[in-house]
Order: sequence, then structure tokens, then C-alpha cells
Amino acid sequence: MDIRESILDCVGHTPMVKLNRISDGLGCTLVAKLDHLNPGGSVKDRIGIAMIRDAEASGLLKPGGTITEGTAGNTGLGLAIAANVLGYKCVFCLPDKMSREKIDLLRAYGAKVIVTPTAVTKDDPRHYNAVAKRIAKETPGGWYAGQFQNPSNPEVHYATTAKEIWEQTDGKVTHFFAGAGTGGTINGVGKYLKEHNPKVKIILCDPVGSLYALYYKDKNAAPVNRQYTVEGIGLDYIPGTMDFANIDDVVQVTDSESYQVARRLTRMEGIFTGGSSGNNLAGALKWLKKHKPGECLPVVFICDVGDRYLSKMYNDNWMRENGFLEEFDVTAAELLLHKPGQALVTAEPDQTLSEVIGHVKTLDLSQIPVLESGEPVGALYDDQLINLLLEGRKLGEIKVREVMGAPLPVVSDEATATELLRTFQGGAPAALVKRASGEWGIVTKADLVAVL
Ligand SMILES: Cc1ncc(COP(=O)(O)O)c(C=O)c1O
Repeated sequence: MDIRESILDCVGHTPMVKLNRISDGLGCTLVAKLDHLNPGGSVKDRIGIAMIRDAEASGLLKPGGTITEGTAGNTGLGLAIAANVLGYKCVFCLPDKMSREKIDLLRAYGAKVIVTPTAVTKDDPRHYNAVAKRIAKETPGGWYAGQFQNPSNPEVHYATTAKEIWEQTDGKVTHFFAGAGTGGTINGVGKYLKEHNPKVKIILCDPVGSLYALYYKDKNAAPVNRQYTVEGIGLDYIPGTMDFANIDDVVQVTDSESYQVARRLTRMEGIFTGGSSGNNLAGALKWLKKHKPGECLPVVFICDVGDRYLSKMYNDNWMRENGFLEEFDVTAAELLLHKPGQALVTAEPDQTLSEVIGHVKTLDLSQIPVLESGEPVGALYDDQLINLLLEGRKLGEIKVREVMGAPLPVVSDEATATELLRTFQGGAPAALVKRASGEWGIVTKADLVAVL
């Protein structure tokens, strides 16, 4: 039989998968560690149970006690799951920028939730951690979990998350990309991986507006007064659980990049996650494109499920109101996904028209790009061929070069639908897509209209 003792035995051992489509053009396959598949839908289930077990062992948490915590939501859920199985009460304090879904979820688990202002410093008595600490003190049997300085937090990532990544990649992991809220994940994982292979690179992906990226470059950096909306990562001070000793580089990511890449991850790979995972993936893609490490096995960390952001980053109106959404949210790479298995038909300038015309007939193509030494030099258009036929010309005697029209416009993989629309406004019936891998694809006006 394979029956677990309780839901707590379902925490961890999350799968790793290849991001086959998103990796296109990177020169390596990016792998995702899917910690959103924990029972509470986030990485924080790991520290929920670990902090409680350690507090029980040290006598800080007594049977029937009350757990309090300042949380972006996910740690609260991790704690609530364990508390419900083990018989504790919970009070959680959340900053008001957190999504409605997270508050409702915590209440569904039976926790008491107090919403505190986001825009206060950590020394303000209204700060979510200060309120949680005070409630623990004032409540008989109260225990403040304190994920931002609790050593059980990085330790459980060292003992479980990191070990899983090492074993799942057979020790071949070369890069680890993650954000930092408390820093527990990147710290614990970074320490273990470096101990096992000092060459593994640990890259912190940090939201623009957080102090971490600035502090990494200058230990005297002051926090910037800039609010960002991605939840759970970045900070305006350096907490006890954060350690830069094992971090090799930092990449900054904007809210807009985080959300757009997370939404693309859902559409291109079927993996539905939140903004912090988008931050990690956007950071990984930027870093790998810039540094081109060649053959490698990079791992990107996926933190929590997308469901809890349906009213925000998965709501087009919210995205538009906050200036995060292109009017048409689709890229050329995604349009090509809608035409699987269709190899691009091309012609060469010195072929005769009868050599290429078979394709036009059987594949119902309106235009065929003409490539010379792999680069577009012209295109054959069906109306031209019709005219030649009506004139009674013999297609076997005409070279492509003699009659080809202007080449199709070229766009990149990442061209947005708006850019494509503008390209088509110039009169072209289709655009050639130069893939990051160097291959060519084609997107026609009809392909774009069908998707929009
Ligand atoms: C959604 C989300 N992603 C990532 C993190 C960051 O993890 P860590 O605290 O281990 O740095 C958090 C932390 O609260 C989070 O809520």
C-alpha cells in the first residue's frame, strides 16, 4: 500500500520538468523545480511544518498553542496546514498589497487574518511582523514563527529542497535561479549545492525596487522608496535568514516582465504559477541569454500556484490598469506554436517556378519566402504566379530570381502582436520570424487574426 500518515507527508519531493518551448534558443534546456505542487500550493509548506516541529522540540510551542506570523500568505498557508493536523490555532498578519485570494484561503483554513499597511517600514508598530510579534506576546500559549530570522527556514531548504534538486539532476545542475523573500530558499539551496559542487552558480532574481540587488553590489546601499507589486519576494532590509555568501550574481526584474513571463509559462508549457515564479523565470532567461553558458543544466525555482492571483496578474483589466499588459498579449513565438509540425516551405533564387509550384498547390500557400545562403532575399506571391499563368508563360522556363517580389518583413521570436499588426499595416501578407535558434518561421495575417 502507498498510503501516507497525513497531508504533512505530502510536502516536498516535488517534480522537476524541462521547459522545452521556453528554452528555445538558449542553447540548453532550462529545468523547473515545481514547488507550487506542494499540498498548500507553495514552497512555504516546507518551512511551515519545519518551523513548527523545531519549536515543538525546543519547547517554544506547547500543545494547543497559538501560532502567529507575518506572511505574504503562503507561509501562513504552510503553517495553517500543519497547525490543523497538529492541533494549533493560527493568527496571521498580511500586508494589504497581498491578493484577496490569499486572505480568503487563510480564512478557509480556519486562521484569523489581520491585514496591515504595506507602506510602512519594518520598525513601524503597524508593520505586519511587528503586529504578529505583539499578538504572540499578548496571547497565552502564543508563539511567533518569525520566518525572517528562524534558522529552521533555510535549514529545511538545505535538507530537502536542495537535496532533491541535486538528486533529481544526478548532481549535474549548473545554475540555480530564485528570488528571495526571507532568503530561506536561495540560502539553503545555495549552501547545499555549493558544498556539493562549488562551480554551481546561484543567481538571485530580484524585483526592481527591492534592496537585495542593490545591497549585493554595495553593502552601504540605502533602500529605494519604490513599491513593486510582485508578492513574496524582495525586501527593504536584510533579514537574518538572508545570506549573500553563496550568491554569484543578481539580476533585476520588473513587475511587468515577471507577469508577462509567468503568463507565457502557462500558455507555452501548461505551468500555472504566480508572479514570483515569473520573476525567477524572467531573470533566468535574461541571464542565460546574456551570458550564454553553452551546454549546462540550469534550474529555475517555481514558488506558488497561479490560482491565488486570478484577480490580479491573471485579470486583464488589472494588468491593463497597472500598465503591465500589451493590448494584445501574445508573441510571434506563441503564434508559431499554433502551427505545430509545419515546416517552413522556402524557395531558392535559381530554382524554376515549376520546381516550387507543387508546394503552392498541395499546401495552399499564398507566399513562399526565397532564401539565399539562409537569408531572405525575396518572396514568391500567388497572385504573381496566377498572372504568369494567365499570360501563358511556361513556368519551367522561369527562374524564381526573375519574378520574385520583395522579401517578407522580419520580426524576432519576441515580437508582440501589436508589432506584428503594425508590420502587416505596411501591406505585407506575412512576416518571417527569426527564431532565437536561428531557424525561420512564418506568421501570416490570417494566423494573427485567428488568435486575436
Ligand atoms: C510567492 C512567494 N514566492 C517566493 C517566496 C520567497 O521564498 P523565500 O522566503 O524562501 O526567499 C515567497 C516568500 O514569502 C513567496 O510568498
